[in-house]
Order: sequence, then structure tokens, then C-alpha cells
Amino acid sequence: LNYHVPRTRRDILEILLKGLRRLEYRGYDSAGVGIDGGNEKDWESNARSITLIKQRGKVQALDEEINKQQDIDMDVEFDVHLGIAHTRWATHGAPSPVNSHPHRSDKSNEFIVIHNGIITNYKDLRKFLESKGYEFESETDTETIAKLVKYMYDNRESDEISFATLVERVTQQLEGAFALVFKSVHYPGEAVVTRRGGPLLIGVKSDHKLSTDHIPILYRSSGKDKKGCTTLPRMDQDTCLFPVDEKAVEYYFASDASAVIEHTNRVIFLEDDDVAAVSEGRLSIHRIKRTAGDHPARAIQTLQMELQQIMKGNYSAFMQKEIFEQPESVVNTMRGRVNFDDNTVTLGGLKDHIKEIQRCRRLILIACGTSYHAGVATRQVLEELTELPVMVELASDFLDRNTPVFRDDVCFFISQSGETADSLMALRYCKEQGALTVGVTNTVGSSISRETDCGVHINAGPEIGVASTKAYTSQFVALIMFALLMCDDRISMQPRRCEIIQGLRILPDLIKEVLSLDDEIQKLAQELYQQKSVLIMGRGYHYATCLEGALKIKEITYMHSEGILAGELKHGPLALVDKLMPVIMIIMRDHTYVKCQNALQQVVARQGRPIVICDRDDQETINNSSRTIKVPHCVDCLQGVLSVIPLQLLSFHLAVLRGYDVDCPRNLAKSVTVE
Ligand code: G6P
Repeated sequence: LNYHVPRTRRDILEILLKGLRRLEYRGYDSAGVGIDGGNEKDWESNARSITLIKQRGKVQALDEEINKQQDIDMDVEFDVHLGIAHTRWATHGAPSPVNSHPHRSDKSNEFIVIHNGIITNYKDLRKFLESKGYEFESETDTETIAKLVKYMYDNRESDEISFATLVERVTQQLEGAFALVFKSVHYPGEAVVTRRGGPLLIGVKSDHKLSTDHIPILYRSSGKDKKGCTTLPRMDQDTCLFPVDEKAVEYYFASDASAVIEHTNRVIFLEDDDVAAVSEGRLSIHRIKRTAGDHPARAIQTLQMELQQIMKGNYSAFMQKEIFEQPESVVNTMRGRVNFDDNTVTLGGLKDHIKEIQRCRRLILIACGTSYHAGVATRQVLEELTELPVMVELASDFLDRNTPVFRDDVCFFISQSGETADSLMALRYCKEQGALTVGVTNTVGSSISRETDCGVHINAGPEIGVASTKAYTSQFVALIMFALLMCDDRISMQPRRCEIIQGLRILPDLIKEVLSLDDEIQKLAQELYQQKSVLIMGRGYHYATCLEGALKIKEITYMHSEGILAGELKHGPLALVDKLMPVIMIIMRDHTYVKCQNALQQVVARQGRPIVICDRDDQETINNSSRTIKVPHCVDCLQGVLSVIPLQLLSFHLAVLRGYDVDCPRNLAKSVTVE
């Protein structure tokens, strides 16, 4: 929303499309924009109509559709304007222009809305609205919100009613998860946004001094109107944000900081059930009522993110860039936390709770996808160093089972985005059971980082590629740092701790050495890319690598791939092995070495010709295998950081050779904010 910042329609559309491109990794089935429709000199009359442009496919397709529009004048200048845009990952209704956002209240676009999340009671709402004569055009849950806000408007008790009040009434009827942005022809130049369970932040850009750095919350229950109904207290100088002297200001509403960062690094993270409204250039934040524990203000924070971090640079895909960033991203995870001189670890985010954690009875690591694999990868060393039982759980299954959780459990939520709905629901469940909760996330201000009692930011920098790579290795390192911290007063464990900490010291250089195998791995990909299937086998510390490698291959190459625990080979998977089936085995010099050699023999005896990822000094394996990928040696519990990288690179090259869009794999999204 620009307020007293003159912008042409072309500028506005460009800003919106650029923002969508930055967010495209969150969904890319279809995209749409809603902007003011008029072509007059005066912005207020222009805002009395809304133009919607929507298209199936990626943002590029929307861009082309916009360029085809004949009847909108691109050079009209708007002094005040609100434009909204959305890129979709379909939940209800197939990708199509009519199912894409913004959704509208009626054919004349009186109210439009964009939505991330799922409205679970939308069928009941739709039935109600249909009975009142509202006609639906899409199959989405979101359209009910657009109709509902019009219903609230059509049935308003007074013309004075504010846009924020209407939206509050709407959200009181909604069940499920959402982040919403509303625009209306009845409220020109005004925006209302709200969230429950979906991320939403507001960027503030102004060259002028702002009136405050903390926006006090306005509580509805604190005021009553003439009829005695509770109403919002009027905004005044003290309860909203604006540039002093009423100067120009722009607000950017987004689900992710990456869409905002090129405009401003001053942001406000909204909390669940906050309703934020901009009217006459002033931003206010409202809540229905005050509850215990509520923070009565929202602070303007300065983001550390750099634009460069969300640009591809010289790489052909974000995933490739992120794979090659791993020598630096693991350093960033350890920076200021691991002291290699005196072999100590400090984690500021845990310091107030570490004593309590050390007294717990059990650790439960809960996550989805790649983050779950980071838990599997570090479970053994956590068990070893903490001497506690450690469970590693997929969030969805953990919830499905109503898993017993006790007050003396410590539950970890590992999540790159910090927004994954399944993990967030599991977190809320564990809190209800009274367990201490710890977040391990990559996103400052995310729901998981805010709702957990304490936590560790992995500091890997923004990860844009849908297939997670650097976040995995940083989660891995963060969990190991936690394990080291847990046993720092155990004298008997000092030699082992020192061995691991010294392993962490050389890890970035060893990662660089593994990355130098890129050409070799690309050649391997050339031999494999036309295959239908790849099996990946290993055990012990490398079982997680097999699962993670297979997930990478599935996600972006659409080949079938399975991570197999080598110990289970003879209980079924060996039946898949013949001379044609591509097999990758991971054999490292650790306590499972002899057993892995047995598995290798079993595969070779069935005419399999496995490609073996092994220690570069392991002559025995090199001699026994027709093909090897040789990686440097590291302390056993960190070796998994090195064994996964060849598989990240392999999946990348396979996807490129198969002609797929590496960063936007079909049917997937980076942040899955729906259950
Ligand atoms: C999605 C992504 C995966 C990711 C998983 C968990 O499925 O496509 O790459 O591993 O969510 O995401 P989180 O942000 O919680 O780590």
C-alpha cells in the first residue's frame, strides 16, 4: 500500500509481480493480482473499482496475461493505492484462473481477499451464504471469506463501520488456519490483514521518522458504541504508526520477509488473531480482547536478511546455490557458539532452560520431511551424549497416534520454515501436555520459534529451493551442538566431546572437498537419468542419509527412490536387486563397517553393481566395488553431513538432465502451512 507515494500502475504491478516471484517457492500452481480499476486523475475514484487478473501456472504466466490487458492504462499515476497479489499451492480446487486468488465477493469485485491456509468449516459457511443468495464461482474454501465479508458489510448496523471491524467479524466465524489480506471498493486506500496459524508480516518503508517503534494493541473490549455494542476505540496519535508530519509511507504485507526485503528491512511480525489495518496512511493493530500473557504492543524489528541472500547469483537454481553454500552455512550455525580452543559450546537460546532439559526423562524430536531426517541423523549421538531415550517422530503420525507426552519430556520441533502446520500442531499438543518445548528453526519470528519455550536458530540464511539442503546440514550441526552442551559437565565424556568439536572445526573444509566432486557426480547423473528407480542403502549414522538422498531424488527428479536400512535388506528389499536396478550404498569406516561390507557382498552376489559412497582411504571397499564416490573422513557422528552432499548433487543433476524445474517441483511447496 503506497500512501502519498506517486506510483504508476505499471510500477505497482511490477512491485507486486516481483514480490510474487520472491515468494514463488511457496506455491506456483497459479497466481493473481487485484489492483484499483479506474483510469482517472484522482486516486479515490480509481479505487471505487477493482481489476482482477489471474492465471494458471507460474508468475511468468500471470505477467504475460497482464501484458495482454487492453483496457487498463499502465501510465495512470496513483498517489494512494493498495494492490494485492498471491501465488497459489492448491488445496481445495484444481489450479485454474477461477480458483486462484484474489477471490471476490461478487461480480463487481466489491471485496477481494487473498488467503494462505485452509478454512475447515468452509462448507457450512458456504451453505449459509448460498441460503442467503450469494453465488459461488470457484471450488475454493477462500471464496467463502470474500462472500462473508460482503455479508457482514451488507448487514452492517451503521455506515460508520470500519473495515477492520468487518474483518474481525469475519475471522470470528472462521475455523482453520489463515493469513488474509482484504481490499474493498468501499474502503479506498485501506488495507486490512489478519492471521491465525499462517505467517504474516508488515514491512514499513518511509524516509521520514516514524511516530513510534512499538505499536500498542487496540483491544475491542475497551470501547462501546452508542448502542452499547463493543467497538474499537478510535485511533489516535498514540495507538498507531505513521511517519511524523504525515509524510509519505509504504506498507508491504507478506507471508515471508523475502518479498519485502528489497523495499525495507523494518518489519512487524503479527501474532495470531491480530488484525492490522491501514487507513489514511496510519497502521493500527487490533485484537478482540486482552488475554493473560498477551504482549500489549508489536515492535518494529530490523531484519538482518540481505537482498543478495535471496538472489540466485551465478547459479542456475537456488537449490544448487544452497548446496554450494554449505561450507559457509554450517559455519554460520556454529558462529559464536562453538569455541574450538577450549572445546565448549554455548547456545544462548537454551541457557535459561538447559538445567531443566538436563533433568528430563526423554527427548522427543518432532518434524516433517527433511527436518525429520535431521532428527534421524543425530538420534544416535544424542542418545550417546545425553544418555536419555530419544524418540524421533513424524509430526503428522505423532498427532494421529495421540502419542503420550509427559511433563518431564522435552520436545524438539525441527523446522526450516518454522511454519509447517503439522509440526506447529504437534507443538501445541505437547505444550498442552505440559512438556518443555524447544524450537530448531531457520526463520526468526516464525510461529515455531515464537511458540516454543526456548530454541536454537540454525542461522543457515534463507533457503528458497523447495528441496531442502543447507537447512538439513545446519539442523544436523545444531542438534549435535545441543548434544555436546547436554554433557559438558561429564568428565568421562570429555575425550569424545573434544573429538566431535574438533570434527566440527574441520567440517567446513571437508564439505568443500566433497563439493569438488561435482563434475564426477554430474557424469554419474548422465548414466542414471533415464532410469526409473534408484535404491539407496546404508545403516547406522547413514540411514538418515539414505532417507534424505531418496527424498531429494523423489522430490525433484520424479524418479522412484527408496532409502533402505541395510540391516533390513535381507527382509525384503534384496528382492528388488538385479543387474539392472541402480543401487547406491553408503559404507563408512564406523562401527557398522563390517555389516555394511556384508550387505555389499549380498548385493554383488545378486549381480547388483552398486555405486558406493565411501571413505577415500578405504582401500578394501574401493577394491570390492565397481564404482565409488570417495569422500574425506570425519568423526563418525558428523560423517553424515559429508555423505549426504553427493546425493544432493546427484538429485540436482538428475533433475536438470530430466528437464525439470529444480526449484519448483510439481505438486510440492516449500512451506506447508496446511495439515
Ligand atoms: C515441505 C518441504 C520439505 C520440508 C518439509 C518440512 O514438505 O517441501 O522440503 O522438509 O516441508 O519443512 P520445515 O520447514 O518444517 O522444515
